[in-house]
Amino acid sequence: MSKIFERLADKIELWRREAKDILANGGEKVLSEITVSQAYGGMRGVRSLICDTSRVPQEQGLIVRGKPLKEIINISPEEVFYLLLTGELPDKTELENFSENLKTRKFVPDYVWNVLKAMPANSHPMTMLSTAIIVLQKESLFAREYDRGIRKEDYWKPTLEDSLNIVAKIPAIAAAIYRMSFNKGEIIEPDPDMDLTGDYVHMLGIENADKDEFNNLMKLYLVAHCDHEGGNVSAFANQTINSALSDVYYSLSGGFNGLAGPLHGLANQECLKFILETMEKFGDTPTKEQAEKQVKETLDSGKVIPGYGHAVLRVIDPRFEAFFDFGKKNFPDDPVFKTVEVFFNVVPNELKKVEKIKNPWPNVDAVSGSMLYHFGLREFSYYTVVFAVSRSLGLTAQSVMNRALMHPIIRPKSVTTQYVKNLIS
Ligand SMILES: CC(C)(COP(=O)(O)OP(=O)(O)OC[C@H]1O[C@@H](n2cnc3c(N)ncnc32)[C@H](O)[C@@H]1OP(=O)(O)O)[C@@H](O)C(=O)NCCC(=O)NCCS
Repeated sequence: MSKIFERLADKIELWRREAKDILANGGEKVLSEITVSQAYGGMRGVRSLICDTSRVPQEQGLIVRGKPLKEIINISPEEVFYLLLTGELPDKTELENFSENLKTRKFVPDYVWNVLKAMPANSHPMTMLSTAIIVLQKESLFAREYDRGIRKEDYWKPTLEDSLNIVAKIPAIAAAIYRMSFNKGEIIEPDPDMDLTGDYVHMLGIENADKDEFNNLMKLYLVAHCDHEGGNVSAFANQTINSALSDVYYSLSGGFNGLAGPLHGLANQECLKFILETMEKFGDTPTKEQAEKQVKETLDSGKVIPGYGHAVLRVIDPRFEAFFDFGKKNFPDDPVFKTVEVFFNVVPNELKKVEKIKNPWPNVDAVSGSMLYHFGLREFSYYTVVFAVSRSLGLTAQSVMNRALMHPIIRPKSVTTQYVKNLIS
């Protein structure tokens, strides 16, 4: 058994005991009550899920296993994946062992490429990613072991195997989707010696001035988007599907379909589109006045300002701050980045004037696209795929946790409109 399995086996024993105690001693305590408005309003604020991989306090933003984002922005995706899975950062030996383990799993079977190649050329890159993951489902060890009658206590083991396999393969899949979708030439095979970030950058094959800087950006990108607690659309979809004991391939693909929505992960694509359209309209980086005009026109036409607002956060997203600082440090004069900055100085003030908007501050999507754009990754319909590569770390870790804690099938109760009418009459 490789080290990560041993490490988790010990942890899981503790976590199970802890959950058992909690239920025995406090199972009847009330976490949340739900109002009619909340039931009609997307269950906002209803505490009804357990998720230990990360939490998002509204005044702080992302905290991964107790570590605020700013404390971990310099670690690697491998380290953050280990942290998400085990609750602790790996020491040097554990990291080496874990990274080597992932390297042995990175090759993707040819049938995946054949399916992707058969898809219409104008398929959205997120459709291709979701398809690739679901096509790979036949590799699921969990599905095979479940068929063989594995014990419930051991479900987490093949779930972890599936998760490691997916996380190891997803950079190659995502890079191939980029090259296929935008006629960038042949797929570049993974390099067995490279880490997740280096190999993803290598397989994208983007010619750019500074490979090291792009590598640093990608490392930050893959860490910053890794997880965002359990109630966002992709995490909730992932968890719900996985709770039916559908394996991680099914649940991750389903989660990605949610991430592909413009109110969720697609907002980074929408945001860059908004920035480039503004730049085209005004011929360059807009002035403050021009940006204000653009924001007002967008709001008046009933559209959202992409990259601003959040269902949970009530402060500037620390992920936004991490990328903004990166841009400020490395390419403050890039015209697209400067446009992001102009909007950052304008949008919150305009959104504050709209009473119904609860959070006027930027989220990660307001800036992340401009980073990729700077490094020559300019096809913005691809941006959600990069987000998804990172989010696969958190979503698969959440699935491992759910199987570790033996969470049951998710099945909230719905009520009819008539039920509500009777209740309020
Ligand atoms: C993220 C988002 C979906 C959260 O939605 P929410 O929890 O319903 O947010 P609020 O409670 O503040 O929304 C209240 C109203 O303000 C509107 N609003 C919120 N953010 C807005 C924005 N950036 N621009 C314009 N209107 C906005 C909502 O559409 C909603 O209007 P409605 O009642 O007419 O439907 C929303 O802020 C949004 O659409 N943002 C733009 C897309 C985006 O950046 N998504 C990425 C999120 S990480």
